[in-house]
Amino acid sequence: MANSVRVFAPAKINLCLHVGEKRSDGYHALQSLAVFVHNVGDELVFSPASTLELAITGPHGAQLGADNDNLVLRGARALHANRGAEIVLTKNLPVASGIGGGSADAAATLRGLTQFWNLDTDDAQLLAIAAGLGSDVPVCVKSEPAWMEGRGEILTPVLPMPDMPIVLVNPRVEVQTGKVFAALTERRGTGMAVPSGFADADTLLDYLDQTSNDLEAPARSLAPIIGDVLDALSTMLGARLARMSGSGATCFALFDNREHARDAMHTLRKAHPGWWVEAGETGVPPQ
Ligand code: C5P
Repeated sequence: MANSVRVFAPAKINLCLHVGEKRSDGYHALQSLAVFVHNVGDELVFSPASTLELAITGPHGAQLGADNDNLVLRGARALHANRGAEIVLTKNLPVASGIGGGSADAAATLRGLTQFWNLDTDDAQLLAIAAGLGSDVPVCVKSEPAWMEGRGEILTPVLPMPDMPIVLVNPRVEVQTGKVFAALTERRGTGMAVPSGFADADTLLDYLDQTSNDLEAPARSLAPIIGDVLDALSTMLGARLARMSGSGATCFALFDNREHARDAMHTLRKAHPGWWVEAGETGVPPQ
């Protein structure tokens, strides 16, 4: 494995997500504060091969086809049209679930193959390729706390950002982003100022109290079980904020400490054996 490159693709969380007007290109203007979960995500390994090959494994691998449409292969081809690599994707994150999944994998592919193929593609080029793959891919390239605007591709780093214990829950229901946007009725608009950073958890939570996820109501209308997930998360001891991420159906709660987050994970797994439940930590990734 000496020639292999291994890359982690952390889950993306939209701590808030406000939607504005539908643009002439069919996308909605949005504003969102995105953070990443250091220790919950997919993993990709790149090894030498003469052609481009993708194998998918892991607990959610079966839900995903390794066909040419796969965002990992599209990302690899967009980075370099005719170089080879064997890519093994370990799919730990649920598919079509509002926490980046495919976008995080595509972004990790761009990072990993730039290193593996020893390319001199710079950050601006990577971000442009990422934007062509999907609205959430650019923010996943760096996987650092960021304020997203435009259709998601205009990024401003948000620092400092406190580390926050988090629990993620997906009721194993897939919701398609396009359908959720189409079901949108009320929106907060995109008039917020770029936040300048958050010194501690209280400051962040006070800020988040003034915000929402505009996609939560339309996603709940398509998948009412999201309401059950939010109810369950918000009653856990130490939960300070429960909300849906992205276009759902994954919801999260931020906790006051790691022990409470761990306890909540165990309690929720026991009470809902069919749900996907993980605990982790958001904030600035450890270097
Ligand atoms: O960019 P991505 O392929 O992830 O978007 C999936 C769908 O979600 C789009 O086709 C569009 O219907 C909707 N969307 C949107 N506005 C955004 C992002 C996504 O309307 N900012």
